[in-house]
Amino acid sequence: MKNVFRIFSVIGFVVASTFFFVMCKTSGKESDIKISNKPYNIIKSETYNSAAVVSAHYLASTIGKDIIQKGGNAIDAAIAIQFALAVTYPIAGNIGGGGFMIYRSKDGLYDALDFRESAPALAHKDMYLDAEKNVIPQISLLGHLACGIPGSVDGMVKAFDKYSKLKDWKALVQPSIDLAENGFNVTAGQAKALNKRRKVFLEVNDKPIAFVKEDLWKEGDIMLQPELAKTFQLIMEKGRAGFYEGDVADYIVNELKSNGGIISHDDLKNYSAIWREPIVSDYRGYEIVSMPPPSSGGIALTQLLGSIEGYDLKAMGFRSPEVIHLMVEAERRVYADRSKHLGDSDFYNVPIDVLMQDEYNKERMSDFNPMKASNSEDVQASNLQESEETTHFSIIDDEGNAVSLTTTINTGYGSKVVVDGAGFILNNEMDDFSSKPGVPNYFGLVGNEANAIEPGKRMLSSMTPTIVAKDDKVKIVVGTPGGSTIITSVFQTIVNIIDFGMNANDATQSCRFHHQWLPDKIQIENDCLPKSTIVSLQKLGHEVISRGSIGKVETILINDTGTIEAAADFRGDDSVSGF
Ligand code: GLY
Repeated sequence: MKNVFRIFSVIGFVVASTFFFVMCKTSGKESDIKISNKPYNIIKSETYNSAAVVSAHYLASTIGKDIIQKGGNAIDAAIAIQFALAVTYPIAGNIGGGGFMIYRSKDGLYDALDFRESAPALAHKDMYLDAEKNVIPQISLLGHLACGIPGSVDGMVKAFDKYSKLKDWKALVQPSIDLAENGFNVTAGQAKALNKRRKVFLEVNDKPIAFVKEDLWKEGDIMLQPELAKTFQLIMEKGRAGFYEGDVADYIVNELKSNGGIISHDDLKNYSAIWREPIVSDYRGYEIVSMPPPSSGGIALTQLLGSIEGYDLKAMGFRSPEVIHLMVEAERRVYADRSKHLGDSDFYNVPIDVLMQDEYNKERMSDFNPMKASNSEDVQASNLQESEETTHFSIIDDEGNAVSLTTTINTGYGSKVVVDGAGFILNNEMDDFSSKPGVPNYFGLVGNEANAIEPGKRMLSSMTPTIVAKDDKVKIVVGTPGGSTIITSVFQTIVNIIDFGMNANDATQSCRFHHQWLPDKIQIENDCLPKSTIVSLQKLGHEVISRGSIGKVETILINDTGTIEAAADFRGDDSVSGF
């Protein structure tokens, strides 16, 4: 550890976090940072010899580490973390949503688990359009019609059945029962996020919920979730049936049916997570393994890396206008392809092989002009009022098995619907479908037929859980939340490590930029770039806008000596653990 900040008071924590944020933004010389305070203990970066976990909440990271120390593998830890985040990080952690997992065994075998939500049987293409075929604002985002069929519990059961080493389901669920029953201290960030949604929570839910208390939330308040504890008890006793059948299924269906939602008992019973072939590609001799459709993440990441591989980024200079211009032009082309060609490949013929070809991506970049920005069509930009939530965790266990898992209920606190009697929040993932061709969704992403709503179909995602290997060994485990910015944040983190030789912490904390074809703007984190770089990009013809933080990347990097570097993004309460 080069620098160690230990802050023991609440005010000290806030001041230090702000200081750290400003340092990272301005100096670009991030070093290992540990932030410790009461009543919670956040560790941003550490090196370990045997195993490491990085997640959005320190309690979840600690639980994952404990499971590995008790003899579990990375999959066991992932299951315990997924459930722990549903309690301690309800803005995105969930059992009412879905996600994707990339797994690499110590022997180098890969697997990809799709536990993405799917559309209910009563869903249809025009369900969010009025009589004039215009999109009705908000209904795919807020309230009971916004929810896809949750996949997280079935996903965790399938992961357990195929890969658990511990073979003790109860040991993986019990920590979440304890957390929900006994409570945990909310962080300053969580208090703020909950207070911001107080009004909308009260509008959407007519019964008392754990996320709204009489007064406003304050840092250190204890959040108790007794109904959620009972739900976890049923999941612990009955596995999949404890969620998709019986009391919990009744609670879900009652909650939705009595408020205009359409998920039925049959929808729940029929839901099934799917093992898929991961997307595998090569970048400068590194094996890049990521998620296939219904996520766009793996294909888009392959395309982005393929588009820039012919250039010497290091010689061009880290964060130089030349590098940013090149990466942005690659992003523009890849997101244009995403909008037209990507959707759930079980329902739409996604041209995966073509999009993955080196020649195709080189050809796409053949009109790249280092002296001039290209043009994207003009469309109305989305109105970003919510936060780009979702959450990611990265794990490597003491045998060398690795998990990269991204999970979500879509925007912050999803649909805001808390299932009465069961105590968890349902997703608003239906907004990730294209409600109408060409009309941007919440993230400003436009879609087409490939991502139109159909019963049973999974909505297109940007989640990009990724594992990078070199010489038959895991090198990087990485992923992030951030809606449409997920793909470009993972892209930049990998480039930071492979092209610019950064350590895990610098690669993670480094500021970020993003372009997604439409709207035709480079989004740059506030204070990220010097004025001169922005002016250079503007001279090339780019519109550059500043914005708040992009992503919360969780990185594990195994360096050449075998030491494990774990880095949690300073943009959230994210925290590492390990041994
Ligand atoms: N809900 C964001 C995503 O899946 O991309």
